[in-house]
Amino acid sequence: MADQRNFDYLVIGSGIAGLTFALKVAKAGRVGLITKKHRAESNTNYAQGGIAAVMSAEDSLELHVRDTLVAGAGLCHEDAVRTIVSEGPALMRELIEWGVKFSRREGGGEYDLGREGGHSKRRVLHAGDITGREIERALLEEAARQPSITVFEDMLAIDLITSQKLGLPGRNRCLGCYALDEKRSVVETFGASMTLLATGGAGKVYLYTSNPDIASGDGVAMAYRAGASIANMEFVQFHPTCLYEPRAKTFLISEAVRGEGAVLRGPDGVPFMKRYHEMADLAPRDIVARAIDSEMKKTGAEYVTLDITHKDPEFVRSRFPNIYAKCLEYGYDMTKQPLPVVPAAHYQCGGVVTDVDGRTEIAGLLAAGEVGHTGLHGANRLASNSLLEALVVAHRAADVAVRESREPARALPAWQSGNAADPDELVVVTHNWDEIRRLMWDYVGIVRTDKRLLRARARIQNLQREINQFYWDYKVTPDLIELRNLAQVAELIVECALQRKESRGLHFTLDYPGLQPEPRDTILRKA
Ligand code: FAD
Ligand code: SIN
Repeated sequence: MADQRNFDYLVIGSGIAGLTFALKVAKAGRVGLITKKHRAESNTNYAQGGIAAVMSAEDSLELHVRDTLVAGAGLCHEDAVRTIVSEGPALMRELIEWGVKFSRREGGGEYDLGREGGHSKRRVLHAGDITGREIERALLEEAARQPSITVFEDMLAIDLITSQKLGLPGRNRCLGCYALDEKRSVVETFGASMTLLATGGAGKVYLYTSNPDIASGDGVAMAYRAGASIANMEFVQFHPTCLYEPRAKTFLISEAVRGEGAVLRGPDGVPFMKRYHEMADLAPRDIVARAIDSEMKKTGAEYVTLDITHKDPEFVRSRFPNIYAKCLEYGYDMTKQPLPVVPAAHYQCGGVVTDVDGRTEIAGLLAAGEVGHTGLHGANRLASNSLLEALVVAHRAADVAVRESREPARALPAWQSGNAADPDELVVVTHNWDEIRRLMWDYVGIVRTDKRLLRARARIQNLQREINQFYWDYKVTPDLIELRNLAQVAELIVECALQRKESRGLHFTLDYPGLQPEPRDTILRKA
């Protein structure tokens, strides 16, 4: 059994939210940052299009606010939108000071601002088409220069430790977490005065996703089990254009490609987006994904195509070097032929309920980034607003953490694994992983009905019973921990979807095609 590790600040996750927070609290105390794979492995690392902020005289905060509210379909919290949008530009300058090299226009002068769906102006700072990798690189290099930050790789947080779980009196408080050291197969105990949950999204709950394997919804599941409220999980954003190529494990074709003029075409080669929205190919993401889904269903096609062959090949190669090279690997030269594309699960708009400072309902527990729900995205996130939200909320949460961290870490009980034997039926875990992801894709996808949702609920409940039995009977493994979380997140998505009796933003149901007059968040809390 390992000794307890104590820190002033415990950070779970090393994407943009976790690293930003760690850098900002590093001067105030000792920071322990745990991350379940290699430190760069995160959704952040794969971000392509960029990060939205008002950076030009032709743009304004008011326009960015308006575009965010329009995309959010009446459900954004306007105060959160205003705060996050208005703090964006200053924090972009800080990112640049930390060493992020955003692309500049020819001649090396002004920043080259990209455009994406739902934006009325060019306002997306990018580093070619590997913006996330560049941000992650710069933040990790800056973190390596801070002696007070200790990073633990291959350290998978299992559950938060709270005063309520320990039977202590008073307001529920987070005291740290248990985490599985994946290399040594030992469960470690981390104690902290303040914990930041920055575990990202849950794309892996669907069969087809743009997300890397780390995105198994661990943070939402852990926070829910710890007693935090979870909001709006029904709003799963499907990115309209992922490469249709079985060998590619779902590779994203950035919306910035449409921002530079690419056109979606049906199987007959005819552009179709004008029939669905006045902004055509640059309509908000929910509309484009549904339009593609509808075209595929109508024609029986397995994909639609994305065509940028009318643009100068040199421009395409230099603006999208990563996408160009990756597609070429699979035999598609995007300067010469349209790319086959399909929608895939991309972003979780709901999450752990926080204010714009990242405060959850549990004392000592903050959340920032894709795991959290501030109300910025409403029923549909505006493209490139998620890196922005992660940055702003992590920055504000760091202020809160430094101001409000009073109690030092306390002694915590070590993890009890009882007499659990090694699992010998790993096939059950693999089977259940596959089943959850397929049933979510088939029954809780872009277009929903109550009948399909009820069918999904029944299956998930069965799976949860089986998974829980496995969880308590055997020693924990990474796959089992993630499976338990996936099942929890799947249940939350289905429950939220069943509660919403309307079609709004990303939640579209054939049973309730209209809007309810009063926009309302769906909030779930463990009984
Ligand atoms: P992440 O960057 O996902 O980091 C989560 C971290 O938590 C990881 O280090 C992970 O390993 C760790 N973790 C998770 N669970 C545990 C656990 N149990 N224990 C320990 N560690 C754990 N958004 C934009 O704004 N612009 C874009 O251009 C853009 N492009 C995208 C392209 C792709 C392909 C994808 C997948 C997403 C894109 N997004 C984009 C969304 C955006 O990248 C994410 O929302 C954002 O990066 C989330 O940051 P985060 O810090 O909250 O989480
Ligand atoms: C993309 O580059 O299309 C992704 C942008 C985003 O998810 O915000």
